[in-house]
Amino acid sequence: MTRKRRLGATDLETVPLVFGGNVFGWTADKATSFALLDRFVERGGTMIDTADVYSAWVDGHRGGESETIIGEWLERSGKRDAVILATKVGMLPGEGGDKLAPARIAAACEASLRRLGTDRIDVYFAHQDDPDTPQEAVLEAFGRLVEAGKVRVIGASNFHAARLKSALDIARETGLPHYHVLEPEYNLVSRSTFEGELQDLCVDHNIAVTPYYGLASGFLTGKYRSKEDMKQSVRGGRMGELIETRMGVIEAMDAIAEETGASLAQIALAWLAAQPGVTAPIASATSIAQLDDIMGTIDLDLSSEQLDRLTAA
Ligand SMILES: NC(=O)c1ccc[n+]([C@@H]2O[C@H](COP(=O)([O-])OP(=O)(O)OC[C@H]3O[C@@H](n4cnc5c(N)ncnc54)[C@H](OP(=O)(O)O)[C@@H]3O)[C@@H](O)[C@H]2O)c1
Repeated sequence: MTRKRRLGATDLETVPLVFGGNVFGWTADKATSFALLDRFVERGGTMIDTADVYSAWVDGHRGGESETIIGEWLERSGKRDAVILATKVGMLPGEGGDKLAPARIAAACEASLRRLGTDRIDVYFAHQDDPDTPQEAVLEAFGRLVEAGKVRVIGASNFHAARLKSALDIARETGLPHYHVLEPEYNLVSRSTFEGELQDLCVDHNIAVTPYYGLASGFLTGKYRSKEDMKQSVRGGRMGELIETRMGVIEAMDAIAEETGASLAQIALAWLAAQPGVTAPIASATSIAQLDDIMGTIDLDLSSEQLDRLTAA
């Protein structure tokens, strides 16, 4: 049975795995992306995470490639009402300025809506904090979009605890919309950004957390165990340090895979989904086989003893 979780205090619900959209048009071509999105929804998937800036880091790309593919898929599949669409503003400069300048938020939202071929974004994230724009002005800009029905709820990505807290305080004092979702980096080998103050804040304020890099870009699937393995993917080049320093985590996961029959990717994501405050980890896949594997996490329950062993590793 597919289990859904509520996104904080909103009326949106998702299964505990969000499809990470940075692969669309990058490591997954259009046909593969369509097949992945079809399969995701077929298997009960509900929420898709993208950003205007995906995949501007690829030679010849300008940003918007991922949103464009999602938009074409929505048109072809007719699945707009079956999915929660999350996208982001703040890392792709353009009309209206850069970062979270109010005019940039307004223009970027229009551009995202156009590429996605929809009239509303379900979760609109500030992709990163902007120290140069007053937080009240940022919330006012988001507020205008909410009022116009172009955005349902807003989220914050890559915020530090103090800045998330001050934004929540401003929203409470002014009646402006407040961040309902936080998207931090968080996984079994990258814990310090989220654990502690930020995690406590989210738990206390019922902020939904959708952590990214759930698989540490593939390291936590167990497919990178030696320098030779790094050639398997364009992402492999970043695995050197993890292979040198974090194989203890993979060994602990191997033991739990033996006990449960689950794959390492499923275990990594199930651990995340069991952490306080976490609603649904984000992970991406570049093939149907990978997607089928990670979707298996939705029905995986690890025992508290297994979760503790992973936390300690
Ligand atoms: N808010 C932010 O600032 C931010 C930053 C980064 C990412 N994100 C979001 O988080 C999402 C996830 O990040 P990510 O895609 O970079 O990393 P990830 O989910 O940690 O790693 C996913 C990658 O691991 C590999 N993989 C997945 N399942 C596998 C399996 N079963 N077996 C073997 N390999 C498997 C695939 O890459 P290969 O096939 O290429 O090996 C896949 O693309 C992004 O798509 C994006 O939506 C947000």
